[in-house]
Amino acid sequence: MPNILPIITYPSNILRQKSSEIEVKSINTKEMQKLIRDMKITMIKKDGVGLAAPQVGKNIRMIIINLPDEPLCLINPVVTKKSWAKETAEEGCLSLPGIFDQVSRHKKVCCHYISEWNEKKLIEAEDLMARVLQHEIDHLDGILFIDRVKTKK
Ligand code: CO
Repeated sequence: MPNILPIITYPSNILRQKSSEIEVKSINTKEMQKLIRDMKITMIKKDGVGLAAPQVGKNIRMIIINLPDEPLCLINPVVTKKSWAKETAEEGCLSLPGIFDQVSRHKKVCCHYISEWNEKKLIEAEDLMARVLQHEIDHLDGILFIDRVKTKK
């Protein structure tokens, strides 16, 4: 049975680390597959649009994003293309409960990643999904959305 994991909240140091790449041979392990299931259920139960591994205390490069039909797991995601166009919208974060602010993000991004079944994949996203990808990948580099707010409060 999947478990709902506790969310690490600001200002924990874990959220400020640069996370390490996941070794491809570890993707198939029971531990990793369980972590993926646990992160998916945690994101859904906590009403998140995305969740990054550091938010559950693991400094490894893995994120979950909430697509309309089902959650998608991205391992070692890398943004390979981003639009010139940017868009500003409100963001929040499970690790910063109660805090919402306007953040500027690229309107479209392309991203390479490895799936939970160890396949090389490419995702093209725009608008909300592009925003979620950029927000979650930032977590893997120790960056929080409050770092990108222009008018710091
Ligand atoms: Co977040």
